[in-house]
Amino acid sequence: MFESLTALPPDAILKLIGEHQNDARENKVDLGVGVYRDEHGQTPILAAVKKAERYILDHQQTKAYTGSAGDPVFNETMQDLIFGDHSSASGRITTLQSPGGSGSLRVAAGLILRAKADVSLWVSDPTWNNHVPLLGGAGVQLETYPYYDADKKCLRIDALLETLSTIPSGDIVLFHGCCHNPTGIDPSSEQWRQIADIVVERGLLPFIDIAYQGLANGIDEDVQAIRQLAERVPEMLVSSSCSKNFGLYRDRVGALSIVSSDADVSQIVYSQASQIVRTIYSVPPDHGAAVVSHILRDPDLRAQWAAELGEMRERLKSVRSMLVEALQETAPAHDFSHIGSANGMFSYLGISPQQVTRLKTDFGIYMEGFGRINVAGITAKNVGYLAESIARVL
Ligand code: LMR
Repeated sequence: MFESLTALPPDAILKLIGEHQNDARENKVDLGVGVYRDEHGQTPILAAVKKAERYILDHQQTKAYTGSAGDPVFNETMQDLIFGDHSSASGRITTLQSPGGSGSLRVAAGLILRAKADVSLWVSDPTWNNHVPLLGGAGVQLETYPYYDADKKCLRIDALLETLSTIPSGDIVLFHGCCHNPTGIDPSSEQWRQIADIVVERGLLPFIDIAYQGLANGIDEDVQAIRQLAERVPEMLVSSSCSKNFGLYRDRVGALSIVSSDADVSQIVYSQASQIVRTIYSVPPDHGAAVVSHILRDPDLRAQWAAELGEMRERLKSVRSMLVEALQETAPAHDFSHIGSANGMFSYLGISPQQVTRLKTDFGIYMEGFGRINVAGITAKNVGYLAESIARVL
């Protein structure tokens, strides 16, 4: 039977992990997969996470199954983290723990198909390289809306708003909550307000994927658009991930929150989503979610986590400035200022796929094929080499 299958190329982002590991060059630079790195190029476990893990090791009494929606305490805590303690929508929001942000996207896709199989889901052009395979692969019909102006290296806000104004009422629009992947360019507060106005006017269903809460401008600042939308729309989907902001990548911690028109519909949605989970992975993994839940409910650990997240955020900002300055020296004829003003881990360098390949083969510098860099891979030690190498391929 399996002879009928043909081999597929590996995922473009995940492939870079192995390629970089197997490169023997000492001066190699990893700007590939979206993982935070400190100034030594390491991805350490957060101190708040270590403490919570010790606590769980000592206090957890059982490893018996949770339900398909995971731990209700985790779900409530995540809902507060995203929507705030005082959201007027809280009575009509239901949250299910999921295996990472990807798991929550998959469950959302299942829910969309059950509720309205012929609806279209609009994703930004460009978007995270797994959005289309994951959501489209699940069977959701996808369309794209304009997002990034590759020449001017900024948001195509006019084209975006214009397209939103033509999307059929009832369609779903996927937005990145903050730290847009792959461009790092987010709408300003005013642009979010313009987007929300059209979403409300046309009766579109916003679907927010937030995988970087706390890494753009702050834990609460990064979810302002979500909180405002939740007050204004009858229905909304929010996929969230704790991979990056808690550094729990491989532990797979995320949540799917669904805003419904009222509390009764919310209960129906919860039962449907739970049943979808049962038919895919049955119940979500517990350990990482228990860590997050403990950190968020313990005031000291929560403060420690917020401080560690703040350090990550500040480092991302400072390496952005460092790279822009270094490139001003090595490639003065080119403008890289967009990298300095973007959010989170990613930016497009604005180079061709051929130049990306040359950086890899000739200089041991790894990035995603369209020139997306993860700025967390930049350090004081490698920034000079990086800027010189980029200048050499331009
Ligand atoms: C990325 O875009 O690099 C991250 O979100 C990791 C992944 O799974 O692709």
